[in-house]
Amino acid sequence: MSANTKPFLVRLVRYVIKNPRYSLERLSIIVGQKLRGLETYKNVRQADLNIPQSAEPVLYESSGNSFLVKTLKNLNITSNDSIIDFGCGKGGALIKMANFPFKKIVGVEYSEFLYKIAQKNIKKLKLHHIQLFQGDAAAFKDLDDINYVYLFNPFGLATLHPVLENIKKSLKNNPRDLTLIYKNAVHHQAVINSGLFKKINQFKGENADFFIYKTIPKS
Ligand SMILES: C[S@@+](CC[C@H](N)C(=O)[O-])C[C@H]1O[C@@H](n2cnc3c(N)ncnc32)[C@H](O)[C@@H]1O
Repeated sequence: MSANTKPFLVRLVRYVIKNPRYSLERLSIIVGQKLRGLETYKNVRQADLNIPQSAEPVLYESSGNSFLVKTLKNLNITSNDSIIDFGCGKGGALIKMANFPFKKIVGVEYSEFLYKIAQKNIKKLKLHHIQLFQGDAAAFKDLDDINYVYLFNPFGLATLHPVLENIKKSLKNNPRDLTLIYKNAVHHQAVINSGLFKKINQFKGENADFFIYKTIPKS
């Protein structure tokens, strides 16, 4: 056993002892996906993402698990709803969203490497109502029929600000109630400062919570 392997194993055992239920779920996701020829669960570091140097530091990690499902169950999704996952990675969260009656599900991913894996996963599962786009979330403006936005800490302020600005323009174009689900909301204050949203709820995640925001009605 190498010197590096031992601390990794110690950390792994500690993690499993601390989170027995989630560890079991993760194991079943890995085995289930291997059997079906899917792959969303492996983390990817910025260095391996192949996204432009100018992009902010990011990590790919999937939030497609039972915590996301529980959160969505609390939101009474109907077939009139449409959702976008900005920074959808390999599609782990999109696949869970497909268990709900969303009319439309959209994923936008900057990394071509991850986008191609997402395409493969979605094709394998025949989830034809999921639309995937490769590119910068800051440039994606086709939002007028979207009423749910999902963010799993995908980017920093340099991208979040234009994304919020695009949402604002879309709300002006087509006034409507919009729900923002933000997991690991490191830029909570920027969301509040946008003046568009108020936080209405919070649900537990395996290592970071989901903050739920609703648009503030115009008086
Ligand atoms: C933490 S992962 C979340 C993956 C997925 N949303 C989920 O919950 O399973 C964040 C993702 O955002 C992507 N990302 C980062 N900056 C982006 C940008 N400017 N435009 C689109 N995607 C971006 C990263 O490549 C990464 O796949």
